[in-house]
Amino acid sequence: MSRDDLRIVAGPANRVLADTVARELGGEPDPSAVERFPDGELRPWVRDVHGADVYVVQPTGPGGGDSIVALLLLLDACHRAGASRVTAVVPYFGYARQDRRQHGGQAVGARVIADALATAGAERLVVVDPHTPALEALCEIPVEMVTAVPVLAHGLAGTGDGFVVVAPDLGAVKLAERYAALLDTPVAIVRKHRESGSSVHAKELIGDVADRRPIIVDDMISTGGTIEAAAGVLLDHGAIPEIDVAATHGPLVPSAIRRLHALPIRRLLVTDSVAQHDAFAEVHTIAPLLTDTIRRLHEDKPLDDLLIRT
Ligand code: R5P
Repeated sequence: MSRDDLRIVAGPANRVLADTVARELGGEPDPSAVERFPDGELRPWVRDVHGADVYVVQPTGPGGGDSIVALLLLLDACHRAGASRVTAVVPYFGYARQDRRQHGGQAVGARVIADALATAGAERLVVVDPHTPALEALCEIPVEMVTAVPVLAHGLAGTGDGFVVVAPDLGAVKLAERYAALLDTPVAIVRKHRESGSSVHAKELIGDVADRRPIIVDDMISTGGTIEAAAGVLLDHGAIPEIDVAATHGPLVPSAIRRLHALPIRRLLVTDSVAQHDAFAEVHTIAPLLTDTIRRLHEDKPLDDLLIRT
């Protein structure tokens, strides 16, 4: 096998996505496996990748811990098997919310995960709409931050007049501006305060939402608390109670579904960066985006139009 050979190694967290990418690149689904011992330990196995340009596709969720360990072990297995280049394709990069310490005694979780990926053998990292662009600066290896916003905006297209794209917190303003540019809508911003991992508080609104249909956009939905808080503010300010929500990542915890069901949500769009099992969300695939990204990296072509423009 030579560097001319492109190989997709499919992690267990989202095999459907990885296998779709492999097929779109003209290959077969990858037989790699991660075995679990009775005590919970994981052990990977990869088919011969010696000399190949390898892309390990594995999000860090759901669940965080096991998905991350499986990713690290697969990277190490490819590295030790003599791959000529190993790229970690991490559609959903968890821990990116911990890009700095908010209080003493905390960790910079994003840095810990990034360092671990590099130590395990990743020479390059591909992520989709990470929580923060600071991820690039936190990583020792090159990071390609591609975006699924055009995919989701395409799903929202045809929304017409009377809509307003809403950033549910200050961190989502640039994201909201990217959606608004594609959908040709104004932008409103909700000011959010996070009290804990499961509790957020939102009160203030910047912009006009009265008698408009809101489209709340975010990088991810986990507990649904951010969307719930933003929806409350929008309704208090006279928005039409038919809300569309779009988020690249949907590592939804079970209580999030109940929470979101209770809101006047018309459509909830997420991608398959994390495997989706609940019929509530409309899932738009990022397989073509990852396929295009991997093909261009393999052929040393620029990614310009696929990257996040900050
Ligand atoms: C935080 O700043 C993120 O951009 C999301 O708004 C947040 O992580 C969503 O989490 P949850 O659904 O638990 O509020």
